[in-house]
Amino acid sequence: MAHFTSLDELSTKEIERLIERGLQLKQGAPVQPIPTKTVANLFFEHSTRTKCSFDMAEHHLGLHVLPFETATSSVQKGETLLDTCKTLQAIGVDALVIRHGETGYYEQLQHHLSIPIINAGDGSGQHPTQSLLDLMTMYEVYGNVIDKIVVICGDLRHSRVARSNAHVLQRLGATVIGSGPREWFDETMGIEYREIDEAFASSDIIMLLRVQHERHLADQDFRATDYHLHYGLTRKRMEQLRPSAIILHPAPINRGVEIAEELVEHPQSRIFEQMTNGVFARMAILERAFNQQTTKETI
Ligand code: CP
Repeated sequence: MAHFTSLDELSTKEIERLIERGLQLKQGAPVQPIPTKTVANLFFEHSTRTKCSFDMAEHHLGLHVLPFETATSSVQKGETLLDTCKTLQAIGVDALVIRHGETGYYEQLQHHLSIPIINAGDGSGQHPTQSLLDLMTMYEVYGNVIDKIVVICGDLRHSRVARSNAHVLQRLGATVIGSGPREWFDETMGIEYREIDEAFASSDIIMLLRVQHERHLADQDFRATDYHLHYGLTRKRMEQLRPSAIILHPAPINRGVEIAEELVEHPQSRIFEQMTNGVFARMAILERAFNQQTTKETI
C-alpha cells in the first residue's frame, strides 16, 4: 500500500526519485492523467498552502476530487476519524489526503484501510509533503544536500516540519543544526544546538519556523519584538549570511517575528518558490500513490 505518512517509511532512492519527478514536472514533463480515480482531502486543522496545492496538484493530474468539509460533515456529530475514512472508502474514494491535530493519527488508521493515506500534517509529528517540497527547493539550488549545513531555527519542539526535515536531511548527507530559544529545542531530533549568530553565518540553508502558538499551553510571556531581536532573521543577521545561502520558511509567516518584513522577498529567499514547488511535489506523491495501486491491481 502506497501510504505516504512519514519520509522514514521511504528508502533514500525513493525519496530522491520523488524529488527528481517533482523537478521534472515543474519543467513541464508530460503527465499521464488519472481521471478514473477519486481523492478526498480531509483537513481537520486549518491550511492554505497544503490544501490549495493538493487541490491544484489533483487538478493537474485530472483526478476527481470529492468535496469534503469537516464543518459540514458528520464529524460534527461525533463520527470518528476511522469511521469517516471507512465511509469514504466504502463509497468509492481511492485515496485520502489527511491533516489532523493528533500526532501519529495514521498509525492505527492505515491498518483498517485498503486505500492510501497521504499525511498532510499530524499534530507535532510529521509533515512529509512539506519536507519533500523543501528538499525539491534545496536540490533546485544546490543539486543535492551532501555536506550542506542546514540550520532549523525557532519552535523546533512543536514543529512537524522540523521533525520531518531533521531526519531526512541527515539521511541525504546534510549536516543539520538547531537554533532559536533553547527551551524550544528538541534533543530527540538528533541534531546539535548552536547559538543563532554563529548558526546563521555558517549555514547554506536557513530554515525558519513559525512560532506555533496554537500548540503552546501558555504563551502570555511571548513578545514578538523580543523574539525577532533574539531569534529572528534581522537585517543585521542577513548581512552575515553566506552570499550563496538560501532562506526557507514553510509559512504562514509571522512577518517581523521570524523574519524581517523586508527580507521575505529578498533575492536569497526561496519562500514563495517553496509554495510553487509544493504543487509539483504533491503531484509526484499522488502519482506514486496511484502508480503503486495500479501495479498491484495488474499483478
Ligand atoms: N506550510 C503549511 O503547511 O502551510 P499551511 O498550514 O497553510 O498548509
